[in-house]
Amino acid sequence: MLAVSLDGRLAPAAGGAAQLGGQGDRRVLEEALAWADGCLIGAETLRRHGSTCLIHGDDLLAHRRRAGREPQPVAIAVSRSGLLPEVLPFFHQPVRRWLLQPSTELLPAPGSRAAAGGFERQIPLSTWSAALALLAAAGLERLAVLGGAMLAADLLAQGLVDELQLTFCPQLLGGAHTWLPVTAAGGCGLPGDWQLLEHRALEGEELLVRYGRRRR
Ligand SMILES: NC(=O)c1ccc[n+]([C@@H]2O[C@H](COP(=O)([O-])OP(=O)(O)OC[C@H]3O[C@@H](n4cnc5c(N)ncnc54)[C@H](OP(=O)(O)O)[C@@H]3O)[C@@H](O)[C@H]2O)c1
Repeated sequence: MLAVSLDGRLAPAAGGAAQLGGQGDRRVLEEALAWADGCLIGAETLRRHGSTCLIHGDDLLAHRRRAGREPQPVAIAVSRSGLLPEVLPFFHQPVRRWLLQPSTELLPAPGSRAAAGGFERQIPLSTWSAALALLAAAGLERLAVLGGAMLAADLLAQGLVDELQLTFCPQLLGGAHTWLPVTAAGGCGLPGDWQLLEHRALEGEELLVRYGRRRR
């Protein structure tokens, strides 16, 4: 799920943390988080923003509580380098933090805290399908992807995204930061792959579109 400009950018031309979505986008983002067991966040997005998105809506929190779920989905940082400075506000947010990283060495299991890095758990990322199976086995079956573009492109190229949730925001940004990087061209599906599930006008002249992937 991404907030994008009308010309398909997810960040300003100069780069940096994008603050594209308004109140309407915030709500649909929280709705998606409220559905999720875990959310995947690219390391660059975390380094740029410093934190992950949290559910704040009382109704959404109450709904999760009634269903016996934790208030927030597990925040799963995705990184090759593991370079996520502990000074990031992310490490003080009221969420469980896991790290998905190409490595065979597992850090301590849930319940204990990894001394290094502030992650409760590390899941090895050898292949995406193996990593997703490990996450499912650990109880995280419904995953939301918070971006950014590199992470989204990787998952789309492998056909692992079931649904696209885009909020179009009334801005034209130009520049290189398209929501799929140019390197992703050609690898992300065929015409007819995506079926419109929903379109909804949001406050602030924003438009939510949700597309589901047709399984063939
Ligand atoms: N508008 C929106 O809704 C929205 C949402 C999210 C982000 N953004 C914007 O997007 C920009 C950041 O996006 P981005 O595309 O540059 O970066 P990104 O996708 O957030 O993060 C890229 C990094 O994630 C890790 N990574 C990605 N795929 C991986 C894989 N298969 N295996 C292991 N690690 C992997 C690597 O981390 P390491 O470098 O640590 O190895 C990689 O450098 C920012 O400007 C942010 O503001 C906008």
